[in-house]
Amino acid sequence: MEWWKDAVVYQVYPKSFKDSSGDGIGDINGITEKLPYIRELGADVVWLSPIYDSPQDDNGYDIRDYYKLLKEAGTMEDFDRMLSRAHGLGLRIIMDLVVNHTSDEHVWFQESKKSKDNPYRDYYIWKEGKRQNTREGLDTSKEQAWGDEPNNWGSCYSGSAWEWDSTTKEYYLHLFSRKQPDLNWENVLVREEIYKMMRWWLDKGIDGFRMDVISLISKLPGYPDGEAGESGYTSFEVTANGPCVHEYLKEMNRKVLSLYDVMTVGECSGVTLEEAWKYAGAEEGELNMIFQFELMELDCENGIKWDLKPLDFIRMKKIFEKWQTGMYGKAWNSLFWNNHDQPRVVSRWGNDSGEYRELSAKMLASILYGMQGTPFIYQGEELGMTNPGLSIEECRDIETLRMYQERLEAGCSRAEIMRSVHAKCRDNARTPMQWDDSPNAGFSTGDPWMPVNPDYKTINAGAQLQDEDSVFHYYKKLIRLRKTYDVFRDGRFTMEYKEDPDIIWYTRTGEKESLRVICNFHELTRAIKLPDNEEWGELLICNYPEIRKETELRPYEARMYLV
Ligand code: GLC
Repeated sequence: MEWWKDAVVYQVYPKSFKDSSGDGIGDINGITEKLPYIRELGADVVWLSPIYDSPQDDNGYDIRDYYKLLKEAGTMEDFDRMLSRAHGLGLRIIMDLVVNHTSDEHVWFQESKKSKDNPYRDYYIWKEGKRQNTREGLDTSKEQAWGDEPNNWGSCYSGSAWEWDSTTKEYYLHLFSRKQPDLNWENVLVREEIYKMMRWWLDKGIDGFRMDVISLISKLPGYPDGEAGESGYTSFEVTANGPCVHEYLKEMNRKVLSLYDVMTVGECSGVTLEEAWKYAGAEEGELNMIFQFELMELDCENGIKWDLKPLDFIRMKKIFEKWQTGMYGKAWNSLFWNNHDQPRVVSRWGNDSGEYRELSAKMLASILYGMQGTPFIYQGEELGMTNPGLSIEECRDIETLRMYQERLEAGCSRAEIMRSVHAKCRDNARTPMQWDDSPNAGFSTGDPWMPVNPDYKTINAGAQLQDEDSVFHYYKKLIRLRKTYDVFRDGRFTMEYKEDPDIIWYTRTGEKESLRVICNFHELTRAIKLPDNEEWGELLICNYPEIRKETELRPYEARMYLV
């Protein structure tokens, strides 16, 4: 059954969603309390970012025990109650599966680092330094010497991806922080442990997984140097889509996923279309869909997220066209503007100041919700939540803090670094969910672990639920439309007006009906000829109260027509 093709997924970042205990950290009972809200919006599936036991070096993407929950998140009884409440409401729950790495506090790693002949040694990736045995005078009992690392792979969080361990005098690989050692997927025991754990959660009744950085699990044999960037290290793309990744995923599918009626989505940065067909192709027996990040790289200079570049709108349209037509009939797309790693889209590509915030948030939603694929809404996106403009002291994210330090040391000015932080930092998405206009936006009665965006007095769920014209109700309407007409799921995609600098206009052609989506991406009134005869179709939705003229589109105007 391909129920996930008709589903809309709502992503919850538990730490910032709803705190029921008053400790300032969101928890499972808070999620349970808000399930009816998610249902009201019209979503079918909830994706939970990690709630497992973790020292929180990377907010839970560093797991200490896959079978336990984070103390602050709640108990297993709380979890079971949430799951059955969700199922009772017709909501499915998918969990984050983080298996490229564990925490360094996981018992496997604690064992692994004890000695070279420990049974868990090969659960992780250990290598000798390049120069240990050859470079005279290098004291290997001390810290690593620069240039001694096994290769030049860089960590996503700055610096080398290798950490020296003085007990066994070898390096271990960590593509993320040093507290996130990479698992060795070549070891069949590792794979079997992971499959066992997945079955344990599925047997509990969860409905699938979002797979964290799954394209990184298979490493290049021989661990060769990659092309070095400015820092002397490679970007982590050299490590993506390794030679055995499809073999591993097919095995995982055979041994686990195919035995259950579940949904899977793999996080795959740096994939080509051809690669995406392999991960998500209907006949491949791997995953149902993937996240690809080509759009998210549009405002990065040379693929470096902190080096800002203005958006190339024509290029954005090309990317949409490429994935909508390239995946058609071959593999299923995911659709998203936001997640816990991205800035808020209304601030990024819409207009978050005053009168245009709601219009542009609705316009952005219209662009995505007419396309083929499974939409993912990130908590607060349905309210048009904005970037908070945090100071560096308010940032919590390891990636941002390490970049800040590294760039300061490299001589960049604070102002320049802060421009990048404000535009791109992951904490933009991680401030507490804005439930109402009471203190702390109704997120917590305690002291929130992240500051609340001061705009919560005007932007909050309580106010938007009351207001039929709110961003919330617009999302709700879009979701309902997707469930009403088959063309949203099946229609063939054609991009029109490809070179137009302001307008995105595409058609979806289905068997029974066609859909036209026309949006003005910018803050200007654009003259355009829109035929007004009957063949043009019925207006399904528009982000302005009434259609004025058939000769222009107002700032950020969005329309969908059904023919
Ligand atoms: C993924 C997650 C991100 C996390 C990283 C390491 O990209 O989305 O939040 O930090 O993987 O697990």
